[in-house]
Amino acid sequence: MRDLSLRYTEQMLVYVRSEDEAALAAIVAIGCEIVASDLPIEEIAGLQEEAVLAVSRLHWTESPDVVVRRSSVCLAELLIGYSVAYRDRAELVARERRRIAQHDRRLAALGQLVGGVAHELNNLLQPIRGMAELGLLDVPPSGTLHTYFAAVLSSAEQAACIVRGILGYLRQEAPQLRPIGIGHALERSVEFARMGIVPGLRLRLEVAERDAVVIGDESELTQIIVNLVQNAARAMHGKGDIVIRVERTPARSSMAGEGVLITVRDDGPGMDATVAAQAFDPFFTTRPPGEGTGLGLAIVREIVHAWGGEVSLDTAPGRGTMVIVRLPVQCGQNREH
Ligand SMILES: Nc1ncnc2c1ncn2[C@@H]1O[C@H](COP(=O)(O)OP(=O)(O)OP(=O)(O)O)[C@@H](O)[C@H]1O
Ligand SMILES: [Mg+2]
Repeated sequence: MRDLSLRYTEQMLVYVRSEDEAALAAIVAIGCEIVASDLPIEEIAGLQEEAVLAVSRLHWTESPDVVVRRSSVCLAELLIGYSVAYRDRAELVARERRRIAQHDRRLAALGQLVGGVAHELNNLLQPIRGMAELGLLDVPPSGTLHTYFAAVLSSAEQAACIVRGILGYLRQEAPQLRPIGIGHALERSVEFARMGIVPGLRLRLEVAERDAVVIGDESELTQIIVNLVQNAARAMHGKGDIVIRVERTPARSSMAGEGVLITVRDDGPGMDATVAAQAFDPFFTTRPPGEGTGLGLAIVREIVHAWGGEVSLDTAPGRGTMVIVRLPVQCGQNREH
């Protein structure tokens, strides 16, 4: 404020003395700066008072009329600068509001569409599950066909869970959570995720913590792992290592007590800061149309938050990606230190 006031006074003195147009341009810029610095319009009165005082203290060769007129021109220019900048900022805010409203409408419409698709898929999954169950009864338990039918059934069941998860997510439903032993549950989830990846990829599970119990849901855990493994697999274009690790972590201020850390790491191309900042947003995808819905990470985050946990990314271009899921362990499971 002090700096603006001094500069305004200086420019007014220049203009009153010489009618220099450059001084007027500088005054318009000062008017813009008042808006940019969030100073209220009332401050202009203070600026004008100080400048006029400085002008009146000097001895002028021009007539008083001329001095008063030129000082007023300065005030008019200051107000023009202020008004133009204020209008520009108001337009910017209005445009941003319109953009957000449009985005919200689009999200709501997409939500309806996804809900409809999930519902249709659910209907199609019923006969797949039913036929697979009948098939299992019809073939000898030791044969290859039995393995095939079992795989179809378990995939259809997981798909039904995912569809239920999507419908629950859209309806903002709270899932039914129960204690799950993280080590064994992860082993089963990883086995399931393994079915969906090509042979060139190696999927490794490192269990540094087996016994911790978290409050969650096993099919949702599978949904988390399948989504993260699929992302990693796509990032690596069919070859390389995906490492899933589970370990204990010490207490952290944002979550009470100890936690477990599940990390899913790939050595793919990683994400730049712009993609990483939006990766968890619903419907954000960098994949070509028809290849991704952009709901994978949004669902992962939704589930992790519902379990009282946190999820974050450690990634950079050329450095691969690590998705870090931190979950609280069930009360009474914290270790003695
Ligand atoms: N492991 C990864 N490596 C590089 N980029 C990733 C990785 N995981 C996610 N991303 C980026 O984040 C975006 C959002 O991921 P998300 O799983 O939410 O949606 P998607 O994979 O594009 O689509 P969907 O999961 O619905 O099929 C991806 O399009 C991709 O750009
Ligand atoms: Mg995905």
